Amino acid sequence: MIASDLLKPANREEADLLDKIALNQLPQHLAIIMDGNGRWAQRRHLPRIAGHRAGVKAARVIIETCARLTLPCLTLYAFSLENWRRPQAEVDFLMRLLREYLKRELPSIHKNNIRLLIIGRSEQLPDPVRKDIEAGMRLTAKNTGMKLVVALNYGGRAELVDAFNAMLDQVRANGMSAFRADEQTISEHLYTAGLPDPDLLIRTSGEMRVSNFLLWQIAYAELYVTETLWPDFSRARLLEALADFQKRERRYGGLGAARGRGRAAVASAAAHKSNDTSGRG
Ligand code: FPP
Repeated sequence: MIASDLLKPANREEADLLDKIALNQLPQHLAIIMDGNGRWAQRRHLPRIAGHRAGVKAARVIIETCARLTLPCLTLYAFSLENWRRPQAEVDFLMRLLREYLKRELPSIHKNNIRLLIIGRSEQLPDPVRKDIEAGMRLTAKNTGMKLVVALNYGGRAELVDAFNAMLDQVRANGMSAFRADEQTISEHLYTAGLPDPDLLIRTSGEMRVSNFLLWQIAYAELYVTETLWPDFSRARLLEALADFQKRERRYGGLGAARGRGRAAVASAAAHKSNDTSGRG
């Protein structure tokens, strides 16, 4: 199967990019920091909320494209713990927008066999948002296609704090005085337990930082930062990022050639990284 069988290119640019993409070398988990909605609106002399509306449209296209390409997992950073610092009206709008999005898109998410998952401190979200999310997760719980993970009220450090506290609770409850944590135990207590670590992290709108996103999980992710503002992040821009990812040599602290040895070898190299003291990867 070739990529253009799964995704009908809308123009020459998409067709050329699709030709460059090997379906067997797609990321297992793509994570995206969707940034730049506000600047997109500002450049058009529009209110910030217009940027967020345009951002939802971009998200829809990217979700559909990833699902068609059969990516196993896509995580979108939709609302951080720090985002509560924005003006109340903008926060309220973002919450409304998310509910609107779920209401409109859930049927097609479900029809396309996509499973919706939420990561973050969802218990602190307004009740109606939490209920809609829970309903969406219940509806799609048995779907076996792409996992669409939405990070909502999410912070990477908070996730680690929650994981450590969950481990401590277990240790106390079961009197496990000899307990010692290792990388696997920590991974299993994160919100992302059971998901592969992202192998590609895209950030739009040019900022060179990870903004407290999936701090543990992106240890070996390839980073791709583009100047494109999120609402302009089209299918072609995503394909460009995927083609770029496929050119990278992933070394996991070793000396290379992991790619030639295939995915299993790469995964095993990553799993054994805890024993690696040779370099930083
Ligand atoms: C960043 O733009 C974006 C956000 C705060 C997240 C909101 C994301 C969406 C509305 C996309 C929709 C997502 C889903 C899952 C439907 P910004 O306001 O920080 O931009 P700026 O840095 O230019 O001000």
